[in-house]
Amino acid sequence: MIAMKELEEEIKGCRRCDLWKTRTNPVVGEGTLSARVMFIGEAPGYYEDLKGKPFIGKAGKVLDALLESVGWERSEVYIANVLKCRPPENRNPTMAELKSCTPYLDTQLAIIEPTVIATLGNFSLGYIFDNFGLKKAKISKIHGKVFKLSTVAGIKKVIPLYHPAVATYNPGMKETLIADFKVLSTC
Ligand code: URA
Repeated sequence: MIAMKELEEEIKGCRRCDLWKTRTNPVVGEGTLSARVMFIGEAPGYYEDLKGKPFIGKAGKVLDALLESVGWERSEVYIANVLKCRPPENRNPTMAELKSCTPYLDTQLAIIEPTVIATLGNFSLGYIFDNFGLKKAKISKIHGKVFKLSTVAGIKKVIPLYHPAVATYNPGMKETLIADFKVLSTC
């Protein structure tokens, strides 16, 4: 199996879509490779692109506070995104970009083998639910619910969460995110 370091090198040289032309750095992911819980966001934003690290801008501050609310450190989880390169002006990923980039996420999932996958936002929810054959529904209906999967590697769990950025433009959503993280912490 390919190691994370090799994957990082491959992603640095990736030309599968055009996003490499406008990005500064790809953002592969961060955290421990033995994480039980893996968070999957959408795509790098401005600061992530500058530094090559996931969730270090405004949404990252919210994510840090949510992790802290359940007593977790970033170093004990793994954080990645569906897209590894920033789309210009943080526009939504295209179908073609998702198709090109998600094999990298599949490899990360195979390397880390998390027991719990926490999706952050709609693109992550869409990809993970399709990938694991789960029936998609609106995030407003299924956030904070735990979906169990029986796999050859044992029981896995998927928990859809709102994207932490929602709390930056709708502060009331922070309570919902905190409640959902409480559920996540018991998975
Ligand atoms: N939003 C995301 O989905 N991912 C990041 O890394 C930063 C912001």
